[in-house]
Amino acid sequence: MTNILVTGGAGFIGSNFLNLFVPRYPEHNFINFDKLTYAANLLNLKSTKNLSNYTFEQGDIANYDRVIEIFEKYNPDIVVHFAAESHVDRSILGPSEFVQTNIIGTFNLLEVCRKNWSDSLKRNKLFHHVSTDEVYGSLSLNNTNLFTEITPYAPHSPYSASKASSDHLVRAYYHTYGIPIKITNCSNNYGPYQFPEKLIPLMILNALNNKPLPVYGKGENIRDWLYVEDHCEAIWTVIQKGNIGETYNIGGNNEWKNIDIVNKICDILSVELKKNPLPFKKLITFVKDRLGHDLRYAIDSTKIKSELHWQPRETFETGLKKTIKWYLSNQKWVDSIKTGEYKKWIDINYYRR
Ligand code: NAD
Ligand code: DAU
Repeated sequence: MTNILVTGGAGFIGSNFLNLFVPRYPEHNFINFDKLTYAANLLNLKSTKNLSNYTFEQGDIANYDRVIEIFEKYNPDIVVHFAAESHVDRSILGPSEFVQTNIIGTFNLLEVCRKNWSDSLKRNKLFHHVSTDEVYGSLSLNNTNLFTEITPYAPHSPYSASKASSDHLVRAYYHTYGIPIKITNCSNNYGPYQFPEKLIPLMILNALNNKPLPVYGKGENIRDWLYVEDHCEAIWTVIQKGNIGETYNIGGNNEWKNIDIVNKICDILSVELKKNPLPFKKLITFVKDRLGHDLRYAIDSTKIKSELHWQPRETFETGLKKTIKWYLSNQKWVDSIKTGEYKKWIDINYYRR
């Protein structure tokens, strides 16, 4: 049996990853190591938590001793590192947690790999680092050179700078100590279980609750959207078939302006609920822009497509409909996250007007 340590497996992407692969691969043991921050929700894993090849351990990757304990207990063959503070706006309001988790936390995991994986063991080990396209900075509207694996790093926010630092550490541990690593840098994800501080779930839930839909600036910023399960399948493909020491970019080839997405969400909601879209659209409120707001991200996925034959399955049409239907039919989950954190987030955006 292979022991697969998944950090941050109670968050949005990590839980989608576990829900896909724990049942699919009963021959592997999956250990979910998560601090359970505001962004985590153990309800995300309700279909997986009772499977015999799944274990949960609460803990903080920024706590070195706890990371050692976990390694000693489970002796992981593969580490899939999702755990992070992931929200750009929060990093602008308070960068400290981002440095602790994203940089120190990644450093601790790498150090424990270095100390536990001897040269003979290394051959069968892997540290897979899950990262973001935001490390590459921002593109202008007419730039046709999308982000590739050799685009120079130019992070702009405390979040992206902390992720870029972690990517550099991961590469340094490969070059210096021979730790077997792979890195994936992905574009914006959407889908079930995403905390409603991020654009798509925030707009869906605010529209349903008759709250303002806060669009930053003029809504002209562009992101490249990918359905979360397509991202998870890409990570699995890289774990299985990617080359050690290499980076693979993952994108949806699916660029949208924020304002167009918000209008699209209103249209889909109106069809699903058999209501007029206008009352939803009237909630759209242009608010003060995010500080240092990157204009455009767009990923060139040629490498993973041509070398590893990965392709996304969902189109934006099918993925967004699926996502909205999921939020409409999972009231129990929605109630479970309607804590102070979601309300606080609505209030922060509200007062940005
Ligand atoms: P998320 O915020 O939904 O989940 C993060 C998870 O990490 C939570 O369960 C949280 O409890 C856990 N965590 C946070 N700090 C921790 C710590 N110190 N120790 C242990 N666990 C901790 O994030 P997400 O959107 O699922 O993102 C997962 C990863 O994917 C991140 O590394 C992020 O940078 C990367 N990524 C995200 C996107 C996206 O669009 N969401 C796109 C590309 C890359
Ligand atoms: O590109 C990958 C990144 O995508 C990941 O690394 C991050 O973890 C993830 O959070 C996401 O970052 P973004 O900042 O692009 O995502 P967010 O959903 O916060 O914002 C998407 C766009 O929508 C961005 O241009 C800001 C805008 N926005 C966002 C919110 C929350 C609004 O206009 N209004 C909002 O209320």
